[in-house]
Amino acid sequence: MIGNTSTFSKVLAKCITLLVFINLTSGQISYQEPFYRGATEAKLTDGGYEGVVVAISPQVPEDEQLITRITEVFMNFSNYLHQATEQRAYLKEVRILIPATWAEDPSYESAVSERFEESDIRIDFPPEERTPSKNLPYTSKPTFCGSQGFYIHLTPEYLKNENTALLYGSYEKVLAHEWAHYRWGVFDEYPRPLSDDPHFYQASSGFIEGTRCTISITGTEKILLK
Ligand SMILES: *[C@@H]1O[C@H](CO)[C@@H](O)[C@H](O)[C@H]1NC(C)=O
Repeated sequence: MIGNTSTFSKVLAKCITLLVFINLTSGQISYQEPFYRGATEAKLTDGGYEGVVVAISPQVPEDEQLITRITEVFMNFSNYLHQATEQRAYLKEVRILIPATWAEDPSYESAVSERFEESDIRIDFPPEERTPSKNLPYTSKPTFCGSQGFYIHLTPEYLKNENTALLYGSYEKVLAHEWAHYRWGVFDEYPRPLSDDPHFYQASSGFIEGTRCTISITGTEKILLK
């Protein structure tokens, strides 16, 4: 346990700004991967990511509760990221982009540069090919190790239904994992679910090795969160 959780929560509750934007320009969106990509403009300044865009797909019906859940989940994720990175990073500003078809609210601002196709996190129904584990969060990352991915995909069901979500672990840990893929370009150190990734391979030594992280990196066990 590093530091004091309640202190972090208090500070971050003040620092994190959640803005809701309405997508005025929404027309047809192209679902043709990989021709569109998240473009993140999110900048890291003094440990705070600003301009992180969480966009709700125009396919998702209006749902106030979804906005509330996004807010809660991302606040907690920010706290967790702050602790897990030993205070190096947290989410300072998250912009929630909602579809143009949803009701107006005086607290919303009009989207200027935010677009679903260029958002960091997409809230959308699962693509058809993912039927076996349709609510499993994933990151589209057809890019090299160390380079940013395209976007993180979360389903409305995943955000709203804790029983569904907790099958995959706590929200904050799952999001930190996906954030590492997306923003830092880290690959899984195990065969990706639903992929043809091999579970074993023949190493240059001639021995058969499991797909896992290297054993040449040693570490000490440290509990960051209770
Ligand atoms: C956020 O964290 C608080 C405090 O740990 C917890 O009670 C709450 O259930 C969490 N919310 C979500 C959506 O994970």
